[in-house]
Amino acid sequence: MMWIIFQTVTVYFLLVTCSAKNNVPAFFTFGDSLADVGNNNYLPTIVKGNFYPNGIDFGKPTGRFTNGRTVFDILQQEMGFKNFTPPYLAPTTVGDMLLQGVNYASSASGISNSTETFYGTLLNFDTQISYHGRTAIAIMSRIGIPAAQKLLSRAIYAIAIGSNDIMYSGTSSMSEEDYFDFLISRLKLGLKTLHSLDARKIVVANAGLIGCIPYEKDIHPVPKGSCVRILNRTAQRYNAKLKGLLVELNKNLKGAKFIYADIYQMLEDLSNNYVSYGLRMAFLLAAPLPGPKGD
Ligand SMILES: *[C@@H]1O[C@H](CO)[C@@H](O)[C@H](O)[C@H]1NC(C)=O
Ligand SMILES: *[C@@H]1O[C@H](CO)[C@@H](O)[C@H](O)[C@H]1NC(C)=O
Repeated sequence: MMWIIFQTVTVYFLLVTCSAKNNVPAFFTFGDSLADVGNNNYLPTIVKGNFYPNGIDFGKPTGRFTNGRTVFDILQQEMGFKNFTPPYLAPTTVGDMLLQGVNYASSASGISNSTETFYGTLLNFDTQISYHGRTAIAIMSRIGIPAAQKLLSRAIYAIAIGSNDIMYSGTSSMSEEDYFDFLISRLKLGLKTLHSLDARKIVVANAGLIGCIPYEKDIHPVPKGSCVRILNRTAQRYNAKLKGLLVELNKNLKGAKFIYADIYQMLEDLSNNYVSYGLRMAFLLAAPLPGPKGD
């Protein structure tokens, strides 16, 4: 329930900032469990969403890591899309299906590939971007280069990745500062590649309240009901760098609009004011895996 409200709030935020109900032919999504609509079903990984109670609002599990639609599903519907954009890895995602956009998100994935050591093969950010290169070529060969460029430049690109990198930053031998700079430089490379493939409207979500993810609350000694504050602060440090990157790209990449979607602030606001949003509980966040205590 909290999840739905969170998604609704997010959607309004994104709609207002994109102001893009008109003229959006396609929607491309990149990310982790916040955005996965079933790619992990097709990957040799232990991180799957295709079981109950995921998908109960659809009547069956779909591979989404939520009871119902993802933030980006809702956003697409609000923008007038008839169908949800399909997972890239589904065998049926071919031909004209590509023209409304594709979803490359893979739960538990990150900007780096460090989580793959634990969970098996995932689509990390680089892989998602390179798959988008293939999609762009497929669209060009289907409708011709000028029409493809028009479609790609009017499309919305939504990216929600980085939380898993932050959660697993302890597994890197680099200092936090160097590791975050490394992540941001990889992200920058991917965003510039998207831009070179005609992307112009790009929404990038920051890292949320990582300290409130059930798994982290289980493995850190915190009182029941409260969050791991040091991890929230870690997310804040990463987010400051992300924000700086988007400011830089907005300045340097002609004609592109990069939007910083402040998921962290929205969740903080929800947690402080959850009663006024009609909620009984402060936190129930999507996470790659439930905590050992299962809450
Ligand atoms: C991650 O990528 C690096 C560089 O491409 C590679 O050397 C490494 O083996 C990869 N690790 C995993 C777990 O896939
Ligand atoms: C997360 O941590 C930050 C920094 O310590 C703190 O200000 C904030 O209240 C925390 N949020 C929640 C929901 O625990």
